[in-house]
Amino acid sequence: MSEKLLKVGILGCGPIAQIGHLEACQKARNVDLYAVCDAAEDLANKMAAFYGAKKVFLSYEKMLKDPAVDLILIATGDYFHVPGTIMALEAGKHVLVEKPMALDVDSAQKLVDAVEKSGLICQIGHNKRFDPGIFSAYHFVKEELGEMIAYKGWYCDSTHRYAATDSVQPVIHSSKNSVKPLKNPKEDLRQYYMLAHGSHLVDLAYYLAGPIEKVTVSLMEKQGIYSWFVDTHFESGTHGHLDLTVAIRDDWSEGFEIYGSEGTVRANIFNPWYMKPAQVRCFSERKGTYSEVLNNDANTYKLQIEHLAEVIMKGKKQIGATAQEGLASVKAMVAINQSATTGKTVYLNQVTGTV
Ligand SMILES: NC(=O)c1ccc[n+]([C@@H]2O[C@H](COP(=O)([O-])OP(=O)(O)OC[C@H]3O[C@@H](n4cnc5c(N)ncnc54)[C@H](O)[C@@H]3O)[C@@H](O)[C@H]2O)c1
Repeated sequence: MSEKLLKVGILGCGPIAQIGHLEACQKARNVDLYAVCDAAEDLANKMAAFYGAKKVFLSYEKMLKDPAVDLILIATGDYFHVPGTIMALEAGKHVLVEKPMALDVDSAQKLVDAVEKSGLICQIGHNKRFDPGIFSAYHFVKEELGEMIAYKGWYCDSTHRYAATDSVQPVIHSSKNSVKPLKNPKEDLRQYYMLAHGSHLVDLAYYLAGPIEKVTVSLMEKQGIYSWFVDTHFESGTHGHLDLTVAIRDDWSEGFEIYGSEGTVRANIFNPWYMKPAQVRCFSERKGTYSEVLNNDANTYKLQIEHLAEVIMKGKKQIGATAQEGLASVKAMVAINQSATTGKTVYLNQVTGTV
C-alpha cells in the first residue's frame, strides 16, 4: 500500500540543504520534496531542477501561503531560525528548523511559546539523535544501564577535516544573490564554534543524560585552539564532563562514555558527512556481554525527516529535539559562555542572555 507523503517546503538552498536536506527529502520514504525557496533565484532554480522539487519560490511569504505545504524545513543561517519558525507556525505549518534553535534565551523562549500556542509540531535539527548507534545507546540507557553515575562527552573538530569532507560532500553551489546575515558569523570564532559544534555536544548530553542543572567552565584559547572543559551536573544527580575543542591537530574525535550501576556505554562518533554510524558498545553487567548494533543506514538527515513525518502523520512519539529541548540547549550554551568568562558556576534555570 502506498504511504501518504508529507509535503515539505525547504527554506534556504545553501550548503546544509545541498549536503543534507535536499537529498534526504528525495530519499525519505514518506516525504515529498514539494517546494524549495531561496531569495537567490539562480540557486533556487538549480536546486529545484536537480532534486525534482515541484515548486520554486523566491519569497518565503509566498511559500507559506501555499496550502499544499505541510512542513517547512528551515535551512537558513542561525539568525533567521526564530523569525522563520514563528512565521511558519502562524501560517499553520509544522517545522523542522536547523540547530541551534536560537542565539539567545529570550528569543528561544518566544519560539517555545509560539509552538505551544500553535498546537503544531516543531523539531530542532539535532540530527545526531538519529544516528542508529547513538539511538542504540539511548535505548540501553533507558532499559539496561541502571542508575547513571557519570557522563563524559567530547567534540573535537580537527585541522584535517576539510581534506576529508571536501572529497565526500557534493560540490557546493553558491550565488552572489544569497541572503547573508548582517554580521559574518565566523567573525567571532568563540561564539561560532559554540553555536556550530557546542550545540551538538550539549544536545547529545541532554538526550542521553537528561537536563543539565549547572556548569563550571574553564576555557583555554591558545595557538588558535579553543578548548572548553565543562564540569557538568545533571538534574538527575549524574555528574559529567563535556569537552569542546576546536581545532585539534589530529583527525576528527567525537564520542561519549557513560558509566551506570548496571553497565557502561562507549561511543565513537564519526564526522557526520561520512554518514557512517557511530560505533557504540554497551556492556551489560547482568548479562556479562557486550552489544553493538549493525547500523547500516546513518543518513541522519533522512532518518530525522522520516521520523518527523511519522510524528505528524501517524502520531508517533517525537524523539527528535522539541522546542523545549532546543531552549535547554540554548541555555546550556549561554551558561557555558558565562561561566567561561567569570569562572563561576552558572545554573541553567537562572540564565539569560546571548551565546
Ligand atoms: N545539523 C547539521 O549537521 C548542520 C551542519 C551544518 C550547518 N547546519 C546549520 O544549517 C544552517 C544553514 O547553514 P548554511 O551554511 O546552509 O547557511 P547559508 O546562510 O550559507 O545559506 C542559507 C540560504 O538561505 C537563503 N535564505 C536565508 N534567508 C532567507 C529568506 N528569508 N528568504 C529566502 N531565502 C533565504 C540564503 O539566500 C542562502 O542561500 C545553520 O543554522 C547551520 O548551523 C547544521
